[in-house]
Amino acid sequence: DYRNCSNRKLFLFLQILLHLCVLSLQVPGVIGGSVVLPCSSTEPDQDTEVHWRQNGSKIVYDIIKGKDSVEQQEPRYKNRAETFPEEYKRGNFSIKLNDLQHTDAGKYTCLIAHSSEHKTVELIINETQTDVVTSSSLLWVYIIVAVLILIMLIAGFIIGYRKKIQAALFSPVMPEDKEQTEINV
Ligand SMILES: *[C@@H]1O[C@H](CO)[C@@H](O)[C@H](O)[C@H]1NC(C)=O
Ligand SMILES: *[C@@H]1O[C@H](CO)[C@@H](O)[C@H](O)[C@H]1NC(C)=O
Ligand SMILES: *[C@@H]1O[C@H](CO)[C@@H](O)[C@H](O)[C@H]1NC(C)=O
Repeated sequence: DYRNCSNRKLFLFLQILLHLCVLSLQVPGVIGGSVVLPCSSTEPDQDTEVHWRQNGSKIVYDIIKGKDSVEQQEPRYKNRAETFPEEYKRGNFSIKLNDLQHTDAGKYTCLIAHSSEHKTVELIINETQTDVVTSSSLLWVYIIVAVLILIMLIAGFIIGYRKKIQAALFSPVMPEDKEQTEINV
């Protein structure tokens, strides 16, 4: 029983770790500052189409056949987003956002048409210093929970053995002295 239970808890813990890793591509920004959102293709093709979207739908930037296209751009990003055309030939389609605002926070997806690659970057705007502390202390919460689970498991083992020993001591017929001394050591 114990082994089954600890396996399940270990599995849960690994899932949490995986979740943390997936969420780890975060870029911090400060209001009024600027930030580079990275996006590189593993198969460089400077004539490709690249679509940058915020939260899945808002158009941040389009690069079509190596040319910048801002006709459909969300007005909020007008003159605040820039690309690095000299980097296209290296498959680097990163963008830079200037004069950051609260509403810029969120998930940015870069979709590279020719290879169907897509990268997601989460832009985090620190509004207060405590926000930053909270997000980094989340890891500590996970670690503490894991340690508590471990302690509970060990306690469970000890209690389980103690019951066994007590049962053995108080039973009229003493079963296998040898096993008891082993446990007491
Ligand atoms: C892409 O270009 C930007 C702007 O020059 C640069 O900051 C970034 O490091 C480049 N990324 C890669 C992977 O070369
Ligand atoms: C995008 O999503 C983030 C987080 O869910 C949110 O804070 C932000 O306001 C959203 N931005 C827009 C323009 O929808
Ligand atoms: C955001 O973080 C920077 C650097 O850590 C800090 O200087 C700044 O005061 C923070 N912004 C706010 C609004 O707290």
